[in-house]
Amino acid sequence: MLSARIFFPCRSCKHLEQCYSRATCATGITEAYKADKFDRKVNLGVGAYRDDKGNPYVLPSVRAAEERILMKGLDKEYAAITGVLSFTKAAIELAYGKPSHALDRIAATQSISGTGALRIGGAFLERFYPFSKTVYLPTPSWANHAAIMKDSKINVKSYRYYNSQTIRLDIDGLLEDIGNAPKNSIFLFHACAHNPTGVDPTPEQWRAISEAVKSCGHFPFFDMAYQGFASGDTNKDAYALRYFIEQGHPVALSQSFAKNMGLYGERVGVFSLLAESAEEKRRLDSQIKILVRPLYSNPPVNGARIASEILNDLTLRKQWLSEVRGMADRIISMRAALKTNLEEIGSKHDWSHITSQIGMFAYTGLRPEQVDRLAKEFSIYGTKDGRISVAGITSDNVKYLAESIHKVTA
Ligand SMILES: Cc1ncc(COP(=O)(O)O)c(C=O)c1O
Repeated sequence: MLSARIFFPCRSCKHLEQCYSRATCATGITEAYKADKFDRKVNLGVGAYRDDKGNPYVLPSVRAAEERILMKGLDKEYAAITGVLSFTKAAIELAYGKPSHALDRIAATQSISGTGALRIGGAFLERFYPFSKTVYLPTPSWANHAAIMKDSKINVKSYRYYNSQTIRLDIDGLLEDIGNAPKNSIFLFHACAHNPTGVDPTPEQWRAISEAVKSCGHFPFFDMAYQGFASGDTNKDAYALRYFIEQGHPVALSQSFAKNMGLYGERVGVFSLLAESAEEKRRLDSQIKILVRPLYSNPPVNGARIASEILNDLTLRKQWLSEVRGMADRIISMRAALKTNLEEIGSKHDWSHITSQIGMFAYTGLRPEQVDRLAKEFSIYGTKDGRISVAGITSDNVKYLAESIHKVTA
């Protein structure tokens, strides 16, 4: 017998798969949405950007980069173990800032998007970080974080992050939990656009977090899956990471180009580590190679070539930055439209969190039974935890959505 392990069907989607939890099961939502015949149905479970007509969006800068690559007639030889160098170099400059005094101390490898970067990070910490084998994740966090870390044989604990009473950041709880964790623990932070809550610390709060992390000697691991996608400005979204570096922290970083370049299925990401010296960087580079080689030998080239073409060409890069801003602006404007519509309909609830949160997801504060009613009575599908994907809101459906939310919350 190959496996004695039995997977129980997810109670939401009924699949014989290991769904993360009933509260965040998005597979069930998509299936229920597809089966629904109502013509005004709305899918707020999507984890990918949609345009204002509700369609997937391929960035014109990506199309242009693809054409250029085709014209070059490149071969299909293997990349190096750590991937396409022109891509990883440009990617870390995008994250850490250019010029940055840290750039020549950063060990980096291309990864299978953000998930792969986190997985290499988990493997690295498990094998080479001597001080702790425990990572602290925010409550809540992207559900895959815990799965990735557990598969990397890293213990998972949590720190307080979101206060469901105030629908805001629990900064006091967060700082207290950082202070109470054993020294040199690993802390994973969402660099921007926290998924699922959309609640990010303010710059002032990041400074307090940095101080607390530093005084305990903890190791910060940043997951930056949404750079540029949150505010529309890639520099602004990198504030936390760059501030930590300014303060002299060692850091690990996971980057994804799934959202900000719309390269979801191309699987383009980077894992990097900031070393204390150029000498330590060389050691880290070699440790990373030791991990990657037996995992998948070397990464795929196509998506990395596209991202490299965009990041390294001034005209394309400028075009891309304006397209990222366009996506972020649409999300921000849909948040505002939802709040305004709710207020105009006469909802007496405070919906200010809808616009103070950032990124693709909004934590509405809706209770599971209200989410259920939205699905059953109005054909509007979001996850049980009250999370909605703002990418699923359009100029055409926002009024209907607001009216429906008002009806289930009145
Ligand atoms: C917080 C967070 N980290 C990482 C990822 C990884 O995504 P990908 O592997 O598609 O880059 C996601 C995707 O939704 C995410 O929300």
